[in-house]
Amino acid sequence: MKKIILLLGFIGCVNMPGMAQQKINPDTIKHKMQWFADAKLGIFIHWGIYSVNGVDESWSFYNNKISYADYMKQLEGFTASNYNPKQWADLIKETGARYAVITTKHHDGVALWPTKEHHYSVVNNTPAKKDVLNPFYEALDKNGIKRGAYFSLIDWSYPDYPGFLKDSSRYKVANDPQRWQRFQHFFQAQINEINTAYKPDLWWFDGDWEHKADEWQSEKVRSSILSLQPNAIINGRLQGYGDYETPEQNFPVSRPKFNWWELCMTTNNNWGYHPDDINYKTPFEIITIFVDAVSNGGNLLLDIGPKADGTIPDEQVHILKELGKWNKKHEESIFGTIAGLPQGHFYGPSTLSKDSTTVYLFLPGQTTGNIMLKGLDNSIKDIQVVGTSAHLQHKVVGKIS
Ligand code: GLC
Repeated sequence: MKKIILLLGFIGCVNMPGMAQQKINPDTIKHKMQWFADAKLGIFIHWGIYSVNGVDESWSFYNNKISYADYMKQLEGFTASNYNPKQWADLIKETGARYAVITTKHHDGVALWPTKEHHYSVVNNTPAKKDVLNPFYEALDKNGIKRGAYFSLIDWSYPDYPGFLKDSSRYKVANDPQRWQRFQHFFQAQINEINTAYKPDLWWFDGDWEHKADEWQSEKVRSSILSLQPNAIINGRLQGYGDYETPEQNFPVSRPKFNWWELCMTTNNNWGYHPDDINYKTPFEIITIFVDAVSNGGNLLLDIGPKADGTIPDEQVHILKELGKWNKKHEESIFGTIAGLPQGHFYGPSTLSKDSTTVYLFLPGQTTGNIMLKGLDNSIKDIQVVGTSAHLQHKVVGKIS
């Protein structure tokens, strides 16, 4: 993929319509969201006991593909014996990503940290026998990468959680509000443990669809996180109490109308380690989707699924390294830019420098031929090919009406 940068005095930049943020001060939020808006790329990590047999994370037992007992038997195989958090963090750094989000706990309820709550953790219930979260976050710190914590609100293993399998649940909240209250205390205590011990820069909640905001006590969850970490960013899966939107696997063809958003996407078809899934996207495809997201004002949160021993599958390492190479060469056109031209000016993705004097045009796969940009009301100072020393000529055709 080639990128052309046009250095010109461009008037006006693209402003996206605002997402209504009730009860949240817009100035405070704009300020704290700045690093996220500039970050463009995050790496998502789904690591849990599901990597032992390489089955769907949590959903495999929920959907009755495997019995709950067999699913939980995977606890015995989660060794983390080759886990090298420094290597993980270095690889993430190499991609150019500015933040990483790891599954502290998926819907199966197994915590990656030594939870003090009476519940499953890799520390107490697997041969790994250690906190795998802390060394990872410390390694991220060393590389200047922000700490993200994925946390599933749903906990299908907890005895006081109503949901269990798709065709059977434990109870109904309305019939036993006290039991639900016990769950509220439990999950909020776990959030508090993570917030206190690891101080995530970003919270990535998941599973809010199973209950409403008042049942999760979303407002309380948000304010208790912010009371300790006022600058923490919270994703949109908290029934209306998050800071940004999280389209999953794809986003609309037209520009999403959100202030901040992040596309989360798998490298193959699965979030966790799935050796039978070889349907990997090519680096070209991933870079194209990444550029498309950035061009439309969003970030990409690209997922990997390490094995139970902690090694990252070769195909995923390859993708991350290729993405890193590309980012290194084209850094200026991605990081620290803002969303590109509105539709109609250019048949492809674009970004703008923050001062809107440079427009970056992306030409996936094109190495020869003409490039057309419509409706320019500025004089063009220079045209360069990013990452090379090449300069291009231009010709003005017609007039703006
Ligand atoms: C969905 C799935 C979950 C996955 C998540 C990542 O919400 O429930 O398994 O972790 O997407 O975005």
